[in-house]
Amino acid sequence: MGTISCTNTVSLNGACTRFFAADSLSSKASSVFFNNRTWKLKLRPLVASSSSSSMATNFQVTASSSIGAVKEEQKGASSGGVGENDLLIVGPGVLGRLVAEQWRQEHPGCQIYGQTMTADHHDELINMGITPSLKWTEATQKFPYVIFCAPPSRSLDYPGDVRLAALSWNGEGSFLFTSSSAIYDCSDNGACDEDGPVVPIGRSPRTDVLLKAEKVILEFGGCVLRLAGLYKADRGAHVYWLQKGTVDSRPDHILNLIHYEDAASLSIAILKKKIRGQIFLGCDNHPLSRQEIMDLVAKSGKFSKKFEGFTGTSGPLGKRLNNSKTQEEIGWEPKYPSFAHFLGVAE
Ligand SMILES: NC(=O)c1ccc[n+]([C@@H]2O[C@H](COP(=O)([O-])OP(=O)(O)OC[C@H]3O[C@@H](n4cnc5c(N)ncnc54)[C@H](OP(=O)(O)O)[C@@H]3O)[C@@H](O)[C@H]2O)c1
Repeated sequence: MGTISCTNTVSLNGACTRFFAADSLSSKASSVFFNNRTWKLKLRPLVASSSSSSMATNFQVTASSSIGAVKEEQKGASSGGVGENDLLIVGPGVLGRLVAEQWRQEHPGCQIYGQTMTADHHDELINMGITPSLKWTEATQKFPYVIFCAPPSRSLDYPGDVRLAALSWNGEGSFLFTSSSAIYDCSDNGACDEDGPVVPIGRSPRTDVLLKAEKVILEFGGCVLRLAGLYKADRGAHVYWLQKGTVDSRPDHILNLIHYEDAASLSIAILKKKIRGQIFLGCDNHPLSRQEIMDLVAKSGKFSKKFEGFTGTSGPLGKRLNNSKTQEEIGWEPKYPSFAHFLGVAE
């Protein structure tokens, strides 16, 4: 097999510092494993800037490898052709992996692919039967089902990432983007459903990026699932607050939740419907105030840490979400209809 030298140039954000060990950065060269192959990477700082909240450093990455071998592998992986139920998960993190598990149960024999930001978890993905690749890998295949469930936090161009994912969709099954219910413009603890008004562009960079990403998806004919706060036993707002002990936020702010497993089952139910260009809402229809959430945590006796309390007295309130329209149209119900049910303390 011939070896052809190649260069791929990508921009990576500060998250790469997790990926490349500090000594690799100082030597400005490292190697990375993906597609079952070791790639030599040369790192050259492009921009270094710091802000009060984060340090963002961009690197130009020059990757060289035996591209002939990689192409061979890519061809090999696709030699069986793309199956009618094959799924690409962009961002196979907590939610994406649950989607993979549930999808495989429903479609035994399907192939599941996962695109990530770094190669940090590729071994785990391979062990789960998910074929990993890095997000800038040139799309050599298109898939009938694509779910984009990577968070915006580590992306320099989130709508651009979503557009790239869209190019991997063959237009047949479904393309779903997991957005956030933070997009709904309601901060007085009032009621809101799928059709509620959204935060106007320009008010918040966080919602701007989500709205722009949603626009891209809808233009491609994909669907949007706006998710409320995701949680499971060891992840979610309650875990964050328990770790902090005391939180400088007002206790009466209403939050909306959905268990990770339910977010996965709802995503799959939407994917299977092959709907085009619609927006759905993912929540358990059981809004709770911050204080109520932590009271339930204490009542359950399931957590060893003790929460001291919320000390804030001002700031915006939240909203009470209802997704009856989504539930009815999709024919879906949550396994955990409330946080109290999940904790086993529902009355
Ligand atoms: N958490 C919440 O309360 C909440 C609320 C509303 C909506 N959501 C949305 O729900 C979805 C799932 O959340 P989650 O908690 O399951 O996420 P997560 O576990 O944090 O997802 C991490 C995964 O995404 C990959 N990733 C990160 N940025 C990427 C990018 N730009 N392109 C490709 N892959 C990327 C990571 O790659 P590496 O393996 O390299 O790290 C990893 O595989 C996200 O879309 C999130 O925005 C979350």
